Amino acid sequence: MSTSTEPLPGTSDIWEPEVFGWVELEGITREIFGRYGYQELRTPVFERTEVFVRNLGDETDVVQKEMYTFEDRGGRSLTLRPEGTAGVMRAVANLGLGPGEECRVFYMGPMFRGERPSAGRRRQFHQIGVEAVGCNSPWMDAETIAMLVHYLDALGIKNPKVMINSRGLPEDRPAVAQALKDYFRPHLPEMCDDCKRRFETNVWRMLDCKCDVCHQLALNAPRIADLLGEESKNFFKRVCDGLDRLGVAYEINPRLVRGLDYYVHTVFEITHPALGSQDAIAGGGRYRMTMPGSNAPIEGIGFAAGIERLLMTRAGLGLAPAARTAADTFIIAMGEASIPSALQLAGELRHKGVGGRVMADVTGRSMKAQFRSANKSGAKKVLILGESEIAEGVVTLKDMTDSSQKQVKRDEIASML
Ligand code: HAM
Repeated sequence: MSTSTEPLPGTSDIWEPEVFGWVELEGITREIFGRYGYQELRTPVFERTEVFVRNLGDETDVVQKEMYTFEDRGGRSLTLRPEGTAGVMRAVANLGLGPGEECRVFYMGPMFRGERPSAGRRRQFHQIGVEAVGCNSPWMDAETIAMLVHYLDALGIKNPKVMINSRGLPEDRPAVAQALKDYFRPHLPEMCDDCKRRFETNVWRMLDCKCDVCHQLALNAPRIADLLGEESKNFFKRVCDGLDRLGVAYEINPRLVRGLDYYVHTVFEITHPALGSQDAIAGGGRYRMTMPGSNAPIEGIGFAAGIERLLMTRAGLGLAPAARTAADTFIIAMGEASIPSALQLAGELRHKGVGGRVMADVTGRSMKAQFRSANKSGAKKVLILGESEIAEGVVTLKDMTDSSQKQVKRDEIASML
């Protein structure tokens, strides 16, 4: 039973030193994606529900069971974004993209899915994602995957497992669906309830079911790539050629279909042993979406990585951030009258940028109690200001590492820290 101060299941409070890992990751994200000409975009955390339902697909788990949807006061149905791509596409459509124009963006922020929480599966999780909208060339798919591998490398996540597949074009789908149905039909009675439903609604998803029985059956299912039309086969071939040319190691996984319905052609996922191979660090692909008020679909290629999963992978590789002390310099004010001077001194040090994290105790408690706080803060330097120090224009400086103590002129203290 969770108490009222605990965050809701599947959500977390993120404290230091964990926060340092997030900040570092955000910096590397801006640096690497910036080098590829991607600009940062921040879209709203909630959108009209139809932005997601239209584009992610009504038969996906996300739309069927995981969206946080609510009505606003005007009776409009709104949804907390379960992923970033649909909102980015809405924003790009709103900006207007002329024929032949491209827009390359990256984003980071919270996403929301009502999933069963576990270590790597959160209800509020965070994604870093990129979208290259209006880029219709297969070489762009290869560059996008290569950029993801470069980004992971910059984060210290070396040798990720890159799995790719093609879902072909919408016109290839009936033949693939037919072949899959012919294959799965005789086995249906042994399969899980989800797969029995998927057989009718979204037979492709039967290929990546996690149940043992279904997974074993899926291993021998017809390969999607063999059933695609010539155009799709050629597209996929060029993606693979591009990856070879860019030196990206990958594996073609014929059962990779991804959980969202907007994909065409290339789909890919990345796992790493340091996270555990069940969960993907990142996933993406090429997609097409049609925005309200327009008949022409917009195409793009992108991916998203879960920040929590990136950080878990880094921690598994020994790259967790080091803790920092709450304070580096702690100022003790002896007696109520010394507090303003202590605050002035703290302000001066902070403005000069010396003494690191500077904290002044404003409680007026006993010296012993304030020293206890100083110790707890981890500060290496303690400055003591009492009435006599103030009168003499000095500060007592105690070095906590060797307990040595000396008086320093008030004007010179900044240079001693
Ligand atoms: P996705 O595979 O649903 O794709 O999510 C991408 C990544 O977000 C996953 O690989 C995982 O790291 C992380 N993730 C997803 N759900 C959770 C969760 N409940 N808890 C923790 N992490 C999670 C998309 O969202 C697509 N929009 C990616 C994309 C961009 N495709 C094209 N462009």
